[in-house]
Amino acid sequence: MKQICVVGVGYVGLITAAGFADLGNRVIALDISKEKIEGLKNGEMPIYEPGLEELVERNVKSGRLTFTTSYKEGLDEGTEFVFIAVGTPSGVDGEADLQYVEAAASDVARNMSGELVIINKSTVPVGTGDWVAGIVRRNQPEATPFSVVSCPEFLREGSAIFDFMNPHRTVLGSLDRDAADKVAQLHLPLRAPIVITDLRTAEMIKYASNAFLATKISFINEIANICEALGADVTEVATGMGYDERIGHHFLNAGLGYGGSCFPKDVLALAHMAEEKGKHPQLLHAVMDINADRRPMAVERVIQMLGGDVKGKTIGMLGLAFKPNTDDMRDAPSIDIATQLIAAGATVRGYDPVSMEVAAPLLPDVEMYTDPYSMAAGCDALMVNTEWNEFKQLNRRQLRESMKQPVIFDGRNIYDPDEMKELNFIYRGLGRGYNGANTAEK
Ligand code: UDX
Repeated sequence: MKQICVVGVGYVGLITAAGFADLGNRVIALDISKEKIEGLKNGEMPIYEPGLEELVERNVKSGRLTFTTSYKEGLDEGTEFVFIAVGTPSGVDGEADLQYVEAAASDVARNMSGELVIINKSTVPVGTGDWVAGIVRRNQPEATPFSVVSCPEFLREGSAIFDFMNPHRTVLGSLDRDAADKVAQLHLPLRAPIVITDLRTAEMIKYASNAFLATKISFINEIANICEALGADVTEVATGMGYDERIGHHFLNAGLGYGGSCFPKDVLALAHMAEEKGKHPQLLHAVMDINADRRPMAVERVIQMLGGDVKGKTIGMLGLAFKPNTDDMRDAPSIDIATQLIAAGATVRGYDPVSMEVAAPLLPDVEMYTDPYSMAAGCDALMVNTEWNEFKQLNRRQLRESMKQPVIFDGRNIYDPDEMKELNFIYRGLGRGYNGANTAEK
C-alpha cells in the first residue's frame, strides 16, 4: 500500500485516483476547484462516467480515498507519488496549453515535504517531462530529491474504469530507472505489460497512439466516401477488413468522425510539434482535413434529403454527446451540425440520454426534448449523431408515423438500409452502398 496524491479531478484524474484507491492504496485527490472538491465530499461527481460514483463511494467509505484543495495536505510526509492529471487544452495554433501543468508542478514543488516521484499523467508535448523537472527545481524552497516519470493515460471516456483496470499496456518514461520501477510496482496488480523507456519516447507513444487511432477513423471515412460513389457498403467493407489481425475490427466505424477532448487536440499538437521542428506531417493534416469535412458533409446530406432547402423545416438530432456513454460535448459533431442547419434556416431539436444539461448552454437555439419520440413528432427529418445503444432499437414505426416526413440521416450507420426501406423511411447513412441510397432517388 502506497500513499498517492492525484492533482486534478477531471476525466483522467478522478479515475486515476479512485482506481489506485481501489487497488488498496491511500489516495488524496486534489483540485483547486473548491466546488468540485466539496461536491466530491458530498458524493457528487463532477463528470459523468459509468460506474464512477460507485467506485468513488466504495473507496471513500473505506477511508482510502479523500479529497482536498490543500497541497500541504495532499503532499504530507507519507506521500511518495504525485500524479499530475490536469487539463492540457489546445492553445494557440494547436500547441498544447501547459499553464495548468505549470501551476500544478510549481505548487507541488512549493509544498513537497520529502522525496517524491512526480508522474505526468496529462497528455503533454514531447519534451515536457524535462520542462516539469525544471519548474520543480526552480520552485522548491529548498532542494528536495524528486524524479519525473511520464505515465500517459489510455482511457476512453465511457469505459474509463474498465480501461484503467484492464490496460492493454502501461507505458512509463523516465531518466531515473529506479523511479520508473517504483511506478511500475504501483501498476503490477493490473497485470498488464509494462513498457519502460525514456521520458520523450513515453510521451511520443501517447501521441502516436492517438494519432494512429484518429488515422484509422479518417481512413475508413475516406473509404466510406469512395463506397458512396462506387455503391459498396462501408460497414461490410470494415467487417471484411477487420478479420485481418494486422487491421483489426476496432476504430473502423465510418460516420461523422471523431470529436472529444483528445483526438482533435492530440493530432493537432503532434502536427504542431512536427512543424516546429521543420517536418511536414502531411498524413496528420490529411487525417484532420478528412475529419473536418464530415460535419459539413452531413449537413449537405440532410439538406439534399429535404429537397435542397431546410428553411422552415424541423430536424431532430438523436444524440448530442461526442460519443455514447458520456456527457462530454467537447468538439462534438452535433455542435457544428446544429449551428450550420440553423444558419440554413432549419429549426433544430435535440435529445441525448445523458448530455442534455451540458449541451443546452452550448446549443442555445436547439429545442431540447427529454425523449426521442416527442422530439420526432412533427419533424421533417431525424439525424443520428451519437450511436447510443437506445437508438438502435427505437420503435421506428412509431417514429415514422409521428414525423411530417419519414427522412432519417444516419450519421453513425447504426441502422440497416434494407430494414429502413421496409419501414418506408427515406434513409441515408454514410457510405452505405446501393441499398443505402435515398429511396426517393430511385
Ligand atoms: C480516445 C482514445 O481511445 C483513448 O485511448 C485516449 O486515452 C483518449 O482519447 P476517447 O476520445 O474518450 O478516447 O473516445 P474514443 O472511443 O477513442 O472515440 C474517439 C472519437 O472517435 C469519438 O468521437 C468517436 O465517435 C470516434 N470514433 C471512434 C469513430 O468515429 N469511429 C470509430 O470507429 C471509433
